[in-house]
Amino acid sequence: MTGELRIDLSRLMGRLDVLARVGAIEGGGVCRLALTEADKAGRDLVTGWMRDLGLSVTVDGIGNVIGVRPGRRDGRPVMTGSHIDTVRTGGRYDGNYGVLAGLEVVQTLNDAGIETEHPLAVGFFTNEEGARFAPDMMGSLVYVGGLPLEEALATAGIDGATVGAELERIGYAGPAPVGSPAVRAYVELHIEQGPVLESQGLTIGAVEGVQGISWTEYTIRGVSNHAGTTPMAMRHDAGYAAASIAAEVRRIARGMGGDQVGTVGALTLAPNLVNVVPHTAVLTVDLRNTSEERLQEAERRLAGFVAALAEEEGVGIVARRLARFEPVAFDPAIVARVEDLARRHGHAVRRMPSGAGHDAQMLARVCPAGMIFVPSVGGISHNVREHTDPADLRAGADLLLHLLLDLANA
Ligand code: HGY
Ligand code: MN
Ligand code: MN
Repeated sequence: MTGELRIDLSRLMGRLDVLARVGAIEGGGVCRLALTEADKAGRDLVTGWMRDLGLSVTVDGIGNVIGVRPGRRDGRPVMTGSHIDTVRTGGRYDGNYGVLAGLEVVQTLNDAGIETEHPLAVGFFTNEEGARFAPDMMGSLVYVGGLPLEEALATAGIDGATVGAELERIGYAGPAPVGSPAVRAYVELHIEQGPVLESQGLTIGAVEGVQGISWTEYTIRGVSNHAGTTPMAMRHDAGYAAASIAAEVRRIARGMGGDQVGTVGALTLAPNLVNVVPHTAVLTVDLRNTSEERLQEAERRLAGFVAALAEEEGVGIVARRLARFEPVAFDPAIVARVEDLARRHGHAVRRMPSGAGHDAQMLARVCPAGMIFVPSVGGISHNVREHTDPADLRAGADLLLHLLLDLANA
């Protein structure tokens, strides 16, 4: 009976459409930075849908929102979820697709009058992106006990506001203790955000794990001076030092090859004027690798370069760690189930790592966890042009439905 069960694609696309209007930006994208008014509006909308579907909704101290659907038995639910906060130039699928597919699964089961053995839960975690407040995956990291709640609440963002003050302001400093409800297993459906599935003509990724992530902020202090009168040998140019670090990050990543990636995503200069040698530069470096050992090698190479640069240019350079997560392996049994179910549904599937961070990598610390990927057109994400074909959206959501049924009736 449940074998033929399918989600309702137009209902899922409808919810994706309505949510994408919250914080909509030019070009069809979305800007809902964590804990902003737009994030609050998105939270209110999705929480309302959870309640409409009969889920009992809890909000914890870091603003994680979890809706539980009862099963025949009490006890720990099987959970699916993701995030609904976005980067500044976000697409409508990153995170949102996984949360709304979870709601679509609930509605499909409600419509079919199907009760599972164990409870089901659908949730979204606070500040997965880490774009406004570092680190990323903050809400799920607190949920699994990887970051003390008080420390997370005291975190100041790129605009100076703190997580705690912003949670209070938007009304999502919840009463539920973090880490509740404890879950039996966790499966996250997400767009790949990279080019692999599309380039290989595949529909499903059985995600084996998430690569290591290293985020560092560098503050460079030089001496501001006149751009025309200051001899080159006399300069202590924070702008030159920042640009040198950005170029070196690319050289290290290219030089190491393999899975090594490196990005300088944020860079500000002061006083940021055409005719003044900058006295200050602040930039961020994002290094990632599937191998912890290689990621440490990349970090070592960059640290050596930065120390030599500070000496040579006569500038002060202070490094501040924003995020550091080792590579995570997902539960082999869940990975195998994703692969097997995909094949049984007639989809071309491959095992693969995740280049992006996800809440699933935190849940993997406390329960069996895994992920399902669907293709991203052109491998584009964190870009308003992010897109996934409806047929692939359906394939992923149907797989999620059947995997959750398997796990909740195991
Ligand atoms: O940075 C990441 O990988 C994720 O989008 N937070
Ligand atoms: Mn995401
Ligand atoms: Mn993202």
